[in-house]
Amino acid sequence: MVENDSSKTGVLLISHGSRLPYGKEVINTLADMYRKTTDYKVGVGYMEIAQPDIATAIDNLVEGTEINKIIAVPVFLAHGVHTKRDIPTILRLPVEEIDKPEKNSNKEGHNHHNHGHGHSHKHSHSHDIKKVNFDGKIVYTEPLGADSLILEIIKNRVNTAE
Ligand code: NI
Repeated sequence: MVENDSSKTGVLLISHGSRLPYGKEVINTLADMYRKTTDYKVGVGYMEIAQPDIATAIDNLVEGTEINKIIAVPVFLAHGVHTKRDIPTILRLPVEEIDKPEKNSNKEGHNHHNHGHGHSHKHSHSHDIKKVNFDGKIVYTEPLGADSLILEIIKNRVNTAE
């Protein structure tokens, strides 16, 4: 396991963002739980809709610190357009080719109201999106994925269902 200097390393949890409060409650609670168990400074940023956006969250995370490395964790279950394209773009990281085009690629040029995962909102495009302003290193991790810990949560839901 890599030892990161906690005075120079920040952790950013990246959540999708929603107009309803539940997503924020969950990610902020997770961030608070994490803070109690770590010396890292932990921040939260949103892909879209909610604030702070990722770039602002990184400004907040770094401000007044010596942080020169950020570990950015997409708190998404699986990869999708946001984790493969949009978030790396915001983080100024290389963007991989995405295997499949968006299902709802449209006939009207930029479709601002659907980007393939079933919710409607005006979302940012890579040409107008706010990108990070950070000189240090950004390490972008995998999403949560098919992890046995996730399975434990699923089992717990099943076992406590009546
Ligand atoms: Ni979205």
